[in-house]
Amino acid sequence: MTSRNVDLFDSTYSHFEADVLGRIRRKTFGEDFGQNSWTTADEYRRWAGWLGLSGRSHVLEVASGSGGPAIFLAELCGGRVTGIDINKHGIATAIERAAAHDLGDRVAFRLTDADAVLPFADQMFDAILCVDSANHFPERLRVLKEWHRVLKPGGIALFTDPVVVTGLVSKDELAERSSVGSFLFAPPGVNERLIAEAGLALIRQEDVTANAAMVSKRWHDARAEDREALVQIEGDERYAGLQRFFATVHHLTSERRLSRIAYLAQRSS
Ligand SMILES: C[S@@+](CC[C@H](N)C(=O)[O-])C[C@H]1O[C@@H](n2cnc3c(N)ncnc32)[C@H](O)[C@@H]1O
Repeated sequence: MTSRNVDLFDSTYSHFEADVLGRIRRKTFGEDFGQNSWTTADEYRRWAGWLGLSGRSHVLEVASGSGGPAIFLAELCGGRVTGIDINKHGIATAIERAAAHDLGDRVAFRLTDADAVLPFADQMFDAILCVDSANHFPERLRVLKEWHRVLKPGGIALFTDPVVVTGLVSKDELAERSSVGSFLFAPPGVNERLIAEAGLALIRQEDVTANAAMVSKRWHDARAEDREALVQIEGDERYAGLQRFFATVHHLTSERRLSRIAYLAQRSS
């Protein structure tokens, strides 16, 4: 991961609880559960249903961001959730949020590189969820093999890839789209092949691009309405860069040139 990537997430997570960012998330997502991606509460609830969780489940959330989604998931299913992320400000925010939600040891967060060997024993988790973050993992096959290792037999992994190349994309658009973080763009078929090579069975796949098209437009417009307050936090240059980023995501997804795909894969028993 480049240092540029870490810096960009740093600035988001270290101001995550600022009034202006909360206001923008509420305008963007309707229901703000602390997400920093293209997902909405309806979509997240639907995915929790796909995972078939119960109060006895232990879920690993990979790239847990602010921790909001992991806490939301623990409250939804009643089970345990462990979140990992590489960003220390994200993990610090997550630990604070978890304490405020009074979930005791049902939710835990660890600063961990998901693109490396995971610090967990074999067959520890019933399910894995990774939202809009797999595009940050250059060692995607190793990541999927690690998921296979830490899943219980019959366990399920759900991840989204928000940047599957499904149309013509210019080099400028690719540069703009990858301006937040270190990015890998995959053509259709690659994630499917890597899932199989990791020993997992793809049991469901869904095009969830529409959410990214909607969320990116709303995020852009909500930010524009709060420009002055955002510039105080981000500065002029970063504010303008992020506005270009959200506009580019909207164009590419609404024209289906980049697609966001959800993959549900299972470890055989
Ligand atoms: C678009 S955000 C999504 C966060 C969260 N899943 C959500 O829906 O709000 C991408 C996340 O990936 C994390 N990330 C990037 N590279 C990572 C890595 N190698 N290991 C763990 N987390 C990583 C970033 O810190 C960031 O929190």
